[in-house]
Amino acid sequence: MVTVSGELALLGGKPEVTEPIPLWPAVGDGEIDAVVTALHRSRSDVQYLNSMPGGGPVAALEEDFAGHFGVRHAIASASGAASLHMALYAVGVEAGDEVIVSPYTWGQTVSPILNQGAIPVFADIERETYTLDPQAVEARITPYTKAILVVHIFGQPADMDGILAVARRHGLPVIEDCAQATGGRYRGRYVGTIADVGCFSFGDGKQIIGGDGGMVLTDDAGIYERACAIGSHPARQERDIQDPALTPYIDSLTYTYRIHPLAAVIIREQLRHMDAWNAERRDNHERLSEGLAGVRGLRPVAETPGGEHVYHRHSPTIVPDELGGVDRATIVAALEAEEVPANLGYVRQPIHLRARFQDRAYFFGRQYPWAAHRSGRGADAVTYRAGDCPVAEQRCAAEELDLLGMTAPAWRGGLRELVDQHVSAAQKVFEPANLAALRDWERGQVSAGE
Ligand SMILES: Cc1ncc(COP(=O)(O)O)c(C=O)c1O
Repeated sequence: MVTVSGELALLGGKPEVTEPIPLWPAVGDGEIDAVVTALHRSRSDVQYLNSMPGGGPVAALEEDFAGHFGVRHAIASASGAASLHMALYAVGVEAGDEVIVSPYTWGQTVSPILNQGAIPVFADIERETYTLDPQAVEARITPYTKAILVVHIFGQPADMDGILAVARRHGLPVIEDCAQATGGRYRGRYVGTIADVGCFSFGDGKQIIGGDGGMVLTDDAGIYERACAIGSHPARQERDIQDPALTPYIDSLTYTYRIHPLAAVIIREQLRHMDAWNAERRDNHERLSEGLAGVRGLRPVAETPGGEHVYHRHSPTIVPDELGGVDRATIVAALEAEEVPANLGYVRQPIHLRARFQDRAYFFGRQYPWAAHRSGRGADAVTYRAGDCPVAEQRCAAEELDLLGMTAPAWRGGLRELVDQHVSAAQKVFEPANLAALRDWERGQVSAGE
């Protein structure tokens, strides 16, 4: 049972969280041994430090990843963004096409669309899960839509049944951005294996980390070969591209999207632990959510029906009307004073309201890619306005709370005491008497500043 002790730390009381906050990444002996072994091997096998042909440790990672996830084809890459660019190209997105995507995401879900010369069209998110709302997606489809890019934000699987039903009705390919959700599942299947192609990231704060790195997974040989054509070295293209429509183009006119071989070694080692680590994360984060369930002023993280959240971030919802007039920033300050890592939110401004979209200035000249819209109507064919995605906009403006910041994926293993301390910190901050004290504190801050 969690007990709440007295005065807020912000107002001079003792912080609730005294347990050490775990760090992420937390490299084990397995990764260290694997890297040292790889470097020794590089003295006799250059593939341990030369990934151009995609053999050696890169091929080993791809084989293990495809095997573990149960798909036919895997292509490792330098990053999640590189994977998404390869996937967009591979499903046939071309300059001037529209791609439907969530505005509630990290910018690099969207920048690969722009780099492909295509035009992002934003559909709103679901209120409880923050993932794409299938009805909103359907409402945004036009004759120019070429693909749907769905994001499993924070580790939360999107409503894939709903998204795929819409996609099938309109004959559109679906790309899954699993950068934040490696190992998450939906109706028993790993995200990234449900739609046409899945893209992963192994960069900072992810479920498994290689320093950097990415992965494209698909069952479709055509998508795989086109991904190779845009993102791999000609040595690999020679090996893996068989489609006669692509073979004349085997060339170095491509991107260096391949993975560093030592990153491949680290990720391969971590893959062996992925499911166990994610299960531990789920236990700890669910315990936190259960503890927060009775806290007035906060709506705990909800799970997508049929989904298994894997917690890249822990982002509950602030209920502004239940704060007794206290500002969200004051709540964050009070939580931080209790030694709970917290901030005002991960996304903060939906992508469609950011300057590059408002000014339609991505390449900073002549309004490309918007000017290349397939309709021929020029840069005004797609516009971005406040009100386009009200749920995402309201969440960013008043409801977002990033409760654990970058410490969320570090919540593996037996952390009961730490979790319970976070619960009591939140209970303390949101207690009505303490909210009243925070309101007085706020007033004091305002008059001191006058
Ligand atoms: C949702 C999402 N998509 C794409 C990316 C890009 O991944 P990377 O940093 O590996 O390029 C990130 C990175 O954090 C992300 O969070």
